[in-house]
Amino acid sequence: MSTGRVIGTDTVEDARRRSRLIVEVMPGDIVTALARESAERFGLKLVDGPVEMPAPVRTDGATSMRRTLYRRAPKWQAPARRPRKARQLGKLALIGAGGVGGNIAHLAAMADMAQEIALIDIAPGLAAATALDLNHASGITGAAGRCLGGETLDLVAGAEVVVVTAGRARGPGMTRADLIDVNARVIRAAGEAIRSEAPDAVVIVVTNPLDEMTVKMLRATGFPRERVLGMAGTLDSSRFRHALARAAGVDPADVDAITLGSHGEEMAPIPSRATIKGRPLEVFLSTDQIETCVQDAITGGGQVVALKKMGSATIAPAHASIELIDHMRDARSGPVPVSVMLEGEYGIEGVVLGVPAHLGARGFVKVEELRLTDSETAGLHAAAEAIRARLGL
Ligand code: LAC
Repeated sequence: MSTGRVIGTDTVEDARRRSRLIVEVMPGDIVTALARESAERFGLKLVDGPVEMPAPVRTDGATSMRRTLYRRAPKWQAPARRPRKARQLGKLALIGAGGVGGNIAHLAAMADMAQEIALIDIAPGLAAATALDLNHASGITGAAGRCLGGETLDLVAGAEVVVVTAGRARGPGMTRADLIDVNARVIRAAGEAIRSEAPDAVVIVVTNPLDEMTVKMLRATGFPRERVLGMAGTLDSSRFRHALARAAGVDPADVDAITLGSHGEEMAPIPSRATIKGRPLEVFLSTDQIETCVQDAITGGGQVVALKKMGSATIAPAHASIELIDHMRDARSGPVPVSVMLEGEYGIEGVVLGVPAHLGARGFVKVEELRLTDSETAGLHAAAEAIRARLGL
């Protein structure tokens, strides 16, 4: 016995009134001849059911919010905000054209970050060769910026941003602190050249030991603290995020986490402020797993050194330097971990330390004072004391 409906002209009329395009006919339904006629007249299709509904379109939170706030029709969507308009630098200078400097130049050229990219390295021919190599690639990449390279520091002339990677890298078994004396001389020479040739530049120090060399750069240039930054936090944070993502089995983009303190033994990853998919770490990871990720971030640079035997990491440090420049040229927003001279922030004074800060075209604008746990704050203070001791301050 049939349990279906009788689909008559009234059902078709009803579907038409509701602006439907189909009338669903389930197994057992009976469709009258008149209903078929009127469906045809109104351009409605009789479709054998059950009709599968398309899966709802998944959208990100921002899109859903726009739809909710500006809903006019179910499919209507407010136009997406225009992407941020990043500022192009006039000149970016890189002192040191080794692995990190070369990769920074490559990334900067690909992003059309500057009209001119100057590479400088004392190794004969290295900077000029890398610049020429990058220029040769522009026939494929279409990168419009001009690269030039040489061996003398006067090539920094007129640069808006100078990234200093020059100096010796660690070998296996060496700590970053082992490089203090030899690299301090490199930083002094670079700083003096920057002061005379590029007096308005913002300097990003990458040379190790990072925090100590940033202090030396401040002294050598005599620049205000806003214009001398140390790159470490962006690198260490990226390593921390990578470790957390691996442990939780999620994409690195699902992880938000920062690392503060020194770029050394006293690095201070901040688990209390970290999230995975917007939720606290503890939702995904055990205390032991979180501690393993913290250690992974702290030893990340050393792990690369141990594998390479000669030299340290180059790719992640280059990306981490570019991240800082992107904050300065408005391609990214929000606070970013960077090493700066502290003047009372976090209760610390007179020493360079990694903290979250907002950056602008003229360097750092403001340090962001996050609420940290007592042990995280203690970690920052311990890092400050260790750097002070290493510098004999
Ligand atoms: C590192 C070096 C750049 O951490 O310090 O890989």
